[in-house]
Amino acid sequence: MEELKLDWDVKRFEVGEVEGIPLTKEICEKWHKIWAFQAKPDDLLIATYAKAGTTWTQEIVDMIQCDGDIEKCQRASTYDRQPFIEWVLHKNWPTGLDKAEAMPSPRTLKTHLPYYESALALSPLANNGLFSLLCPPQVIYVARNAKDNLVSFYHFHRMNQMMPEPGTWEEFFQKYMDGKVLWGSWYDHVKGWWEAKNKYRILYLFYEDIKENPRCEIQKILNFLEKDLEKEVLDKIIHYTQFEVMKNNPMANYTFLPPEILDHSISPFMRKGTVGDWKNHFTVAQNEKFDAEYKKNMAGTSLTFRMEL
Ligand code: A3P
Repeated sequence: MEELKLDWDVKRFEVGEVEGIPLTKEICEKWHKIWAFQAKPDDLLIATYAKAGTTWTQEIVDMIQCDGDIEKCQRASTYDRQPFIEWVLHKNWPTGLDKAEAMPSPRTLKTHLPYYESALALSPLANNGLFSLLCPPQVIYVARNAKDNLVSFYHFHRMNQMMPEPGTWEEFFQKYMDGKVLWGSWYDHVKGWWEAKNKYRILYLFYEDIKENPRCEIQKILNFLEKDLEKEVLDKIIHYTQFEVMKNNPMANYTFLPPEILDHSISPFMRKGTVGDWKNHFTVAQNEKFDAEYKKNMAGTSLTFRMEL
């Protein structure tokens, strides 16, 4: 594994904005390069709102691509196996773009960018550049219910010493409801990609479904990737991508980043991996407020979520 040594002081990211979407200042500064990124016809993009089960999906996909070969999947950390395309951790380190550009095809890439058709369509670069990334031949999108997603994002801000200061739970709750967190509104994200799937080759999955029936959902990914695996290999993938196993997998549990960045003693990256943990966080009043906003924001969409199993 590439050794990640810090030769700089860890500071929390400042937040800027691109096309109305809050992103780190580092991403904003590199936006012209990110925007000009060229997807290749055989790229596979894993797109999610942050904390929706990205790492889980990445591991499942990598295991499928490696035909269930565990050792092969241990070749590098999630971070290096599947470049996080818009990510700029620090100017001294390679960006997601650098990693993607250095990678041989076929590439599997990760993004948390929203599918932002209006902004993209209005751009003079609409038919190439980032648009081609957000509409490559194949995208696996994973969505997680808004409440659990919020709770997971909050704890991630606590443990990741580079994320913007989360403030108190109450403050973070409000920021998330207002879409003022990194990558913007959860609503715009899940709805944007939901609509995009009518136009492009996008497999839209739900965290809750994978949790409830991993076999069925992994089979959907296999079908989407036009792969066929023996039952034993599928069993192996189900086993190795369970929460408890991934939690102890140093190549997937984000312990490969230095503790100055990710402080697992505050909250582990592999925290709970459950559906319905929001019930341990939301007050009755917060839940009522959230439900009222949710109803307004989700009116008119065919997209539905399960908040518990
Ligand atoms: P919790 O904080 O609710 O535990 P991402 O990879 O998008 O950052 O998402 C992280 C969330 O996915 C965390 O949620 C993490 O525990 C959960 N997760 C990671 N691997 C998982 C797995 N194999 N099964 C279920 N949940 C998993």
